[in-house]
Amino acid sequence: MEPKNTITTTTTTTTTTTTITITTTTTMLSLLHLLLFFLFSSSMYTSIQVQAASPYPQYNNTKQQLELRTKTSSNQSTNIPLSTSKKYEGSSELIHLRYHMGPVLSSPINLFLIWYGHWSSLHAKLIRDFLLSISNSNSSAGSHPTVSQWWGSTAALYADQTGSNVTRRIALAREISFPAAPRGKSLTRLTVQQIIGDAVTAGSLPIDHRHGVYLVLTSGEIQMQDFCRAVCGFHYFTFPSIVGHTLPYAWVGDSGEQCPEVCAYPFAVPSYMAGATVAMAPPNGDVGVDGMVSVIGHEMAELSTNPLVNAWYAGEDPTAPTEIGDLCEGVYGSGGGGGYTGEVEKDEKGRRWNMKGRNGRRFLVQWLWNPVIKACYGPNALDQ
Ligand SMILES: *[C@@H]1O[C@H](CO)[C@@H](O)[C@H](O)[C@H]1NC(C)=O
Ligand SMILES: *[C@@H]1O[C@H](CO)[C@@H](O)[C@H](O)[C@H]1NC(C)=O
Ligand SMILES: *[C@@H]1O[C@H](CO)[C@@H](O)[C@H](O)[C@H]1NC(C)=O
Ligand SMILES: *[C@@H]1O[C@H](CO)[C@@H](O)[C@H](O)[C@H]1NC(C)=O
Repeated sequence: MEPKNTITTTTTTTTTTTTITITTTTTMLSLLHLLLFFLFSSSMYTSIQVQAASPYPQYNNTKQQLELRTKTSSNQSTNIPLSTSKKYEGSSELIHLRYHMGPVLSSPINLFLIWYGHWSSLHAKLIRDFLLSISNSNSSAGSHPTVSQWWGSTAALYADQTGSNVTRRIALAREISFPAAPRGKSLTRLTVQQIIGDAVTAGSLPIDHRHGVYLVLTSGEIQMQDFCRAVCGFHYFTFPSIVGHTLPYAWVGDSGEQCPEVCAYPFAVPSYMAGATVAMAPPNGDVGVDGMVSVIGHEMAELSTNPLVNAWYAGEDPTAPTEIGDLCEGVYGSGGGGGYTGEVEKDEKGRRWNMKGRNGRRFLVQWLWNPVIKACYGPNALDQ
C-alpha cells in the first residue's frame, strides 16, 4: 500500500487531478511522504512489500477515498442497490476487490511465532490467546461476538480458483525467541527475512511449505524501517536467496513506546485529533500490545487471502495492493468510518472491545472487507 493511501485527513475537499486526488489538507508532510515513496520505490525492491497496515487510521473511510484507490479499476457495479449497501460501513459500488488467480491459504495454517526482543510472558500470552481464538469456534450461548466469527464472516469467505476457501484453522505450531536481538535493534525488511532464515537454518523452526506461516513479532524497543512513518505491519513471502525457500510471513511490532498514536489507534490518538477524539482504554490494559492484536488480525487476514500477492486485492497495481484489511482500517463497529470507530462495547472498567476470545479474553480488532455484502464487516455488526 502506497503511503499516499495512508494520508487520510479529516477534511476531504478534493482537487480534480486524476490519480493523485489527495485530500486538500495535503500538508508538506504528505508531499514528503509521496516524494519519499517515489524515491524509494524507484530504487528498492522493498517497495513491493505489502505494507498492509498503514500507520494512520482511515479517518474518512468513505466513498471518496475508496474511489481514489480504485479509480482505475473496471467499472462494474455490484448488484446491491445503493440504498441497501449504504447501511454497511465503507460500502461502495466503486470498490472492486478482484481475484488475480493466485492461491489463498486454504490448508490449515501452522503458525510459527518468532519473538524478537524482550517479551514479557503476559504480553506473549495475550497475543497467543488472540491467535488461538481464530479457530476456537466454541460458541456456547452468550459467547457472541467472537474472534472466530470475525474470521469466519470475512477472511474465510475468500476462495481461490480451485474453489478452496481460506482456512478457519490456525494452530500455533512452534515458537522461538530472540531476546538478545541478534540481528540488531534496528531492522529492515531484509533483516526480518534473515531472522526467519536464522530460525529455520538453526533447525529451531521447520520449513513447512504446505501449512507454514511465519510471524515475526518485535518488542517495543526494536525499530523497523518505515515503522510509524509508513507501516505498522506488513506481510510478504521470503526469498529463496535469503531464507532458502518461499514462505509466507508477516511482521508486526509493538508500537507502545515508539508511536502508539499512529499504530495503536484508537488506544492513543494523534495530537491533531485530540480535540475531537478521546483515546479508548485498551481491553487488556496495554496500549502497545492491544494495538498490535488488531494489526496482527489485519495482517493474518491479508496474508491468508493474498499470500503471494496475486490473489485478492483492489486496485490495478500489485506493488501497491489494497487488501481486505486496508479497506476497513479504523472501523471496529457499525457506523464506523470518518474518524469514528463505530459502535463497540465497553466493560465495567470502561475498556473497549468488540469481540471475545479464549480464556475469557476481549479484544478490539478492526473489521475486514466482506466479499459477499461488499462492505466492511465484523461479528459485532448491529444490523444483522
Ligand atoms: C461507470 O458506470 C456508471 C453507471 O453505469 C456510469 O454512469 C459511469 O459513466 C461509468 N464510469 C466509467 C468511467 O465508465
Ligand atoms: C468451550 O466453552 C466451555 C464453556 O465456556 C468451556 O468449558 C470449554 O472448555 C471450552 N472448550 C474449548 C475447546 O475451548
Ligand atoms: C467459501 O467462499 C464462498 C465464496 O465467497 C462462500 O460463498 C462460501 O460460503 C464459503 N464457504 C465457507 C464454508 O465459508
Ligand atoms: C467523509 O467524507 C464524506 C464524503 O466526502 C463527507 O461527506 C464527510 O463529511 C467526511 N467525514 C469526515 C469526518 O471528514
